[in-house]
Amino acid sequence: MKNDQKNLKFPKDFLWGVSTSAYQIEGGIINDWSQWEMSEKRLKELRDKKLDCHDFVAGSACDSYNRYEEDAKMVKDLNCGAYRLGIEWARIEPQEGEFDLEQIKHYRRVLENLRGKNIKTVLTIWHWTNPLWLVKKGGWSNKKTVAAYARYLEFVVAELGDLVDFWVTINEPTVHVFQGYFKGIFPPNKKNLIQGIKTFLNLTAAHKKSYRIIHYHNSEAKVGFAHSCSDFYPARRWFFPEMILSWLFDFFGNFLFLNLVRQELDYVGLNFYHSNRLVWYPPFVKNLNREVSDFGWEIYPLGIYEVLKKLRRFKRPIYIMENGLADATDAKRAKFIIDHLRYVHQAIEGGEDVRGYFHWSLMDNFEWAAGYAMKFGLYSVDRETFARSPRPSAAVYAEICKNNGIKIE
Ligand code: FCB
Repeated sequence: MKNDQKNLKFPKDFLWGVSTSAYQIEGGIINDWSQWEMSEKRLKELRDKKLDCHDFVAGSACDSYNRYEEDAKMVKDLNCGAYRLGIEWARIEPQEGEFDLEQIKHYRRVLENLRGKNIKTVLTIWHWTNPLWLVKKGGWSNKKTVAAYARYLEFVVAELGDLVDFWVTINEPTVHVFQGYFKGIFPPNKKNLIQGIKTFLNLTAAHKKSYRIIHYHNSEAKVGFAHSCSDFYPARRWFFPEMILSWLFDFFGNFLFLNLVRQELDYVGLNFYHSNRLVWYPPFVKNLNREVSDFGWEIYPLGIYEVLKKLRRFKRPIYIMENGLADATDAKRAKFIIDHLRYVHQAIEGGEDVRGYFHWSLMDNFEWAAGYAMKFGLYSVDRETFARSPRPSAAVYAEICKNNGIKIE
């Protein structure tokens, strides 16, 4: 790589932040995920694998519903200028069409507290979880969900809009479809291609509607969604079947959703975790895995550079809304951050319009189907007391945010 000898400065006003989501940190939420976690089928599956069921139930999560002030202080201590957080649909609209104003008051307090600390707010409206009444009506494969989502969003915009700097309408639509409808490992736990396609299309419609609603209220608003993009590349660079495969994966996995909503985007939100080295035979992905995270995901910083280059075609500012790794001992996190940021810097120097970086995550939290074992936090969280403690990598990231750059010794 270039850039390995100097101090790397990021552009003025580059936004440094951290990310979380409502269900993964708040605690005490009843929705389709909590229902699935307690279902007989799920509990049996965990027991059969000899896993402790308690580690796979979100339950009190990080208790952030009560500890949001402490969380904001942690964001501040990291010298971050922005915080990406979520709100929970099931709290705000517990019954169809009935909105809970107490919950709105709560989220206003959360957002006002961040504003009071001069932290920009990046609000995720939907991060995979649904109220139970919505699921009973067929969830996202039902076209009517688009209207239900729009009604919920409109309410949120009217009640909280003055406190939001960036809107993330939807988190990782393709991951929701793939894990929920193709692999069946996330709710609604189906393997149903048709419903998956319908869900995908309904999510594009929901994003487009949201864009219009938010802009109707505030023409200056910044609206986008957080998209999981991977660096798909052929194992053999000039081997035709693998080239075609990478093209197909790029087309369906990375570009299709963006292409369908490209008129309704103020920025591109990128979630980058890993790359996929493609071979022509099943299961098609064969990473070299020279270094992996606790999740088994390959650590491959060059991938973020490749993806940023590919996103240029959308001609929008790019915000990296998530990037991080599961690393319980924190042995790899600081280097992971620096190596990825070096490539982000290189992309910027090459002309890519990257305006911000949000690390996933502020603290250890409920990692969906993988439960609490995967530790993504700059802060660790004690599972009994909820006490938060900075890991050594938190100081490294705080220094980067403070300097708006990386100092290379
Ligand atoms: C992303 C999700 C986020 C978190 C990270 C590790 O796909 O958006 O909630 O679970 O993975």
